[in-house]
Amino acid sequence: MKEKITIDEFDGKKFKIRFVEEDDNRKAVVTHYLHNYHNGVKDHFEEEAVGYLKQIVEYKNEEEKLNILEDVALQQLLFEVEDVPFPTPQNYTFKFIDLFAGIGGFRMALQNSGGKCIFTSEWDKFSQITYRANFGETPFGDITKESTKSYIPQEFDVLCGGFPCQPFSHAGLKKGFEDTRGTLFFDVADIINRRIENGNPVRVIFLENVKGLKNHDKGNTLRTIIRTFDDLGYNVSHEVLNSKNFGLPQNRERIFIVAWLREAEREFKFPLGIDTNDNVIFDPKNIIKAKTTKVGDILTKNPDAKYTISDKLYAGHLRRRKEHAEKGNGFGFSSFNKNSTYTSTISARYYKDGSEILIEQEGENPRKLTPREAANLQGYPDNFVIPVSDNQSYKQFGNSVSVPVIQTIFNEIKRQLL
Ligand SMILES: C[S@@+](CC[C@H](N)C(=O)[O-])C[C@H]1O[C@@H](n2cnc3c(N)ncnc32)[C@H](O)[C@@H]1O
Repeated sequence: MKEKITIDEFDGKKFKIRFVEEDDNRKAVVTHYLHNYHNGVKDHFEEEAVGYLKQIVEYKNEEEKLNILEDVALQQLLFEVEDVPFPTPQNYTFKFIDLFAGIGGFRMALQNSGGKCIFTSEWDKFSQITYRANFGETPFGDITKESTKSYIPQEFDVLCGGFPCQPFSHAGLKKGFEDTRGTLFFDVADIINRRIENGNPVRVIFLENVKGLKNHDKGNTLRTIIRTFDDLGYNVSHEVLNSKNFGLPQNRERIFIVAWLREAEREFKFPLGIDTNDNVIFDPKNIIKAKTTKVGDILTKNPDAKYTISDKLYAGHLRRRKEHAEKGNGFGFSSFNKNSTYTSTISARYYKDGSEILIEQEGENPRKLTPREAANLQGYPDNFVIPVSDNQSYKQFGNSVSVPVIQTIFNEIKRQLL
């Protein structure tokens, strides 16, 4: 169909002359509007989104000599945002916002639990591409900017996100919220505080971070987070959990923080893993019964030869391993085979040389994981679209949450939420 409008019309390439905003949220505004077309949140984005739509239709009709009707364009766009692998569930039962969204690990799990995402922020352009290909929505950019925060609708039940870990100032150790100013955690607290000031506090906050947050800055960082939530009226639970206990063959420890509005909390307990029948384990002594998966479960058949590492790179790895054994310096590499119980942690730097997880191959140099295997290792479903380069995808999956861990924790949260 020639006379067609697509979401990509809104990314400013074609319409530079008409749109000269420096901080371009156009695609985010339009996709958020379309995604909320069937609920009240639509009003929040409507004026601006309809304005953009009108300008594009006008432009195409005038300059490209087409004859597009606005309502037809709207129908085309509505179809486009919903024609994705992971659309909003039909009969959703709660609403959430997805901050520091990456490629949507939280969104995947919360949608599976019947949630509707009404706002997303992620400033990395490549993660935005992956996010949109899978969920149909382009995230808003820098969350520290007032212009971004002003787009956040008020009616969400859950705030989730994995904010980067930064030290807080020691200046006035008793002030909590104010002490966090200048960090990304401050922006999370600020968004929560605005809802409190509006007399409509968020019920639950669900955050993920590196395990190092626990002892970061001698424990000051976590203490400040807990005190800030406490001051805002929330009870905080936190727990370090390992993906290998949640049906994934990856040794990945992360800290999870759940903060409940004091008046809304009943009783929340972190699940520590799942057993061989996918039942949730709460007892640390039973963790040993957790489902045992094997690295072979995430491997794909016939990976491309390009993932096999070069003789030069392999020789370097072997040399450093030898040095490490002899002198205790240099670093080694970690290799696994299909019978290994789990790999080491995949991190955002995996794209560099893959030394943290190499797969042994008979009669050949070991190989890196393929992007699809990296997705499997974080529990993403097979139909998750990977629209970016290998390097970008390794960064994205390395940064991501393990979806089944988020899913299991959130199922426990949901039991009290509804
Ligand atoms: C640890 S990753 C979170 C990954 C995510 N949980 C997932 O499942 O893919 C943190 C993300 O925060 C994003 N980020 C950092 N600062 C930001 C900011 N000021 N505004 C928006 N996003 C930001 C980074 O680009 C990164 O993707």
